[in-house]
Amino acid sequence: MGQLWKNTNSRMPAAGLGAMKCGLIESGPDSPNGHSIQHTINPMTSALFSPFTLRGLTLPNRIVVSPMCQYMSEDGSANDWHVMHLGQFAMGAAGLVITEATHVSRIGRISHRCLGIYSDENEFTLKRVVDFCRRNGVAKLGIQLAHSGRKGSVHTPAEGSKPLAAGERPWVTVAPSALPFAPGWHVPTALTREGLAEVKQEFVDGAVRAARIGFDLAELHIGHGYLLHEFLSPLSNQRTDEYGGGTVNRMRFPLEVFAAVRAAFPDERPVGVRVSATDWVDAGWTPEETVLFARELKGLGCDFVDVTSGQVDPRQQIPFGPGYNVPLAEKVKREAGIAVMAVGMITKARQAEEIVASGQADLVAIARAMMDDPRWAWHAARELGAETAYAPNYVRCHPSGWKP
Ligand SMILES: Cc1cc2nc3c(=O)[nH]c(=O)nc-3n(C[C@H](O)[C@H](O)[C@H](O)COP(=O)(O)O)c2cc1C
Repeated sequence: MGQLWKNTNSRMPAAGLGAMKCGLIESGPDSPNGHSIQHTINPMTSALFSPFTLRGLTLPNRIVVSPMCQYMSEDGSANDWHVMHLGQFAMGAAGLVITEATHVSRIGRISHRCLGIYSDENEFTLKRVVDFCRRNGVAKLGIQLAHSGRKGSVHTPAEGSKPLAAGERPWVTVAPSALPFAPGWHVPTALTREGLAEVKQEFVDGAVRAARIGFDLAELHIGHGYLLHEFLSPLSNQRTDEYGGGTVNRMRFPLEVFAAVRAAFPDERPVGVRVSATDWVDAGWTPEETVLFARELKGLGCDFVDVTSGQVDPRQQIPFGPGYNVPLAEKVKREAGIAVMAVGMITKARQAEEIVASGQADLVAIARAMMDDPRWAWHAARELGAETAYAPNYVRCHPSGWKP
């Protein structure tokens, strides 16, 4: 259990914190028309560090450690690397830490080194990591359940991400249609009706294992060009049955999988999805379709949408820049009326504060800046004059307690 660091000498600067809600009231005769105006400033209130509740889970703040593949597993099983990787984030006081893509079948992995949740050994080894994070950290813990589809059977990024060659234990990938991701990539097998049922069951089995391990939350990976996103996008789904064609048909399989996972995961624990809100390719999946999808998901009991973008087609033109997915997240939140997580080049405390305070997103997910600074949340709290939890053994590292 963590202890709360009480910041007793802070006055949070109002600049840049536009929509912050306040308690302490200052007034002065400084309005242009001569009337007195009130500045409402609460030095202890930060939107980013306010709690957020999804079903029976209350996150202590709005900061999420975004999933980050590590390519350090053997046959899907976690090891000491994962204790270190997730353990450091669990210590760092983000409200929620989500595991890297955790694949629901052996052929649903991206590479030979990806994490999985398809065997007893996978479950046992991942539980050890989760137990460590629980015992020593302060964050809540989520799992990302994934299937790589046609983007599987490749080398790790460190090895160049190229498709596995003969002799490198390649496997036959599966997808909605027999269309490779790019020239030279493996041509996937189009899933038959039996194949679809099998994949759905694998997601359910993964969710049951995840619940048994003790994860507080599950996120289904429906983005970045992996299997479930491949169903949504007309670029990768050219089926002629009820799972292909118009938007309703392309959404059908991801919605079926979501409903099955939701039913398999304990009712009081949230289940959400990560979705690529646009393919950034003409004639691809669109933000408007994402809104329709989010409405359907909401009807099935989905608790949040983690809004990312792209990665289904190499022709994509992504306008990378600070917070580049935030407008997409805001659109989904506003038009579908569902809680959203924004992700993508959110790196600064005040940027994150502004996103949450202005209502563009409910949660912010951070990947690379978190790897760069696993104590990102502590440092953001100091900058914003907020409180956050410290594991008991680490309370003494807060600079305010250092002797001169
Ligand atoms: C090393 C690394 C591994 C990643 N692995 C995953 C993953 O397993 N699942 C996923 O949905 N996104 C993954 N991502 C994407 C991140 O979660 C995030 O969406 C992206 O990096 C943009 O956020 P950032 O600008 O804060 O890094 C990964 C990113 C990095 C840098």
